[in-house]
Amino acid sequence: MRRLFIAGNWKLNKNINEAERFASELKSALIDINTVDIAVAPTVLALPTVCKKLQHTNIEVSAQNIHSHASGAFTGEIAAEMIRAAGATYTIIGHSERRAIFGEKDEFINQKVHAAFRSGLLPILCVGETLEQREAGHASSIVITQLKKGLNGLSPDQLSCVTIAYEPVWAIGTGKTASPEQAQDMHAQIRSWLYASFPAFVGDQLRIQYGGSVKPHNAHALLSKPDIDGALIGGASLKVEAFVSIIETAASL
Ligand code: 13P
Repeated sequence: MRRLFIAGNWKLNKNINEAERFASELKSALIDINTVDIAVAPTVLALPTVCKKLQHTNIEVSAQNIHSHASGAFTGEIAAEMIRAAGATYTIIGHSERRAIFGEKDEFINQKVHAAFRSGLLPILCVGETLEQREAGHASSIVITQLKKGLNGLSPDQLSCVTIAYEPVWAIGTGKTASPEQAQDMHAQIRSWLYASFPAFVGDQLRIQYGGSVKPHNAHALLSKPDIDGALIGGASLKVEAFVSIIETAASL
């Protein structure tokens, strides 16, 4: 019912030339995949080039971040409208690195989610607990609170088009993946909350990606779980072979 959605978050990697070359290679390698949704998120500097390279292909482009305002005195920021005009389809919002390193709070993240819809971009909203929070038994309440605040004020139609990326902070870039059972358990709790809070079509349609050390060797076990609707991939999305292998795994399911 929900198509798997595999997205690569390049973070602060690949200059314009490297990004363009990588996009060309992906385009040829993935030309036959038509049963999985695919996106890549380059730096904002490389985004227009990558959008041009991937125009009319099965690979969509995502921003890694947006600002909440459309224009004005916000030195150094980029508006959702500008990202949309460059040809992107999605934007990641509230990544744990932005929350932890740049101090982004749920209220600001919520404004960005609204800004994404205002501009025509589809948000990929990241949520996830730290190791300390998990060990204290607070993982679900942290995640559900981030979701309540991050998704506040959206209509059911908008909600059904959101992608939630569950990325436990302790699994990002550490090589420590949540087990498929741990990930499925949190995804199922998120899904139950969606069904309890919104009309049923939201819970049916909204996709929940898992993120945190997804690699070719663990992708099958994670993506086979009923409530894991895709993956948001960091490190393994920077190598054509690894990223393509994960997408092929998704297409085989
Ligand atoms: P890694 O796949 O490198 O753990 O990164 C996950 C992530 O943060 C994707 O947004």
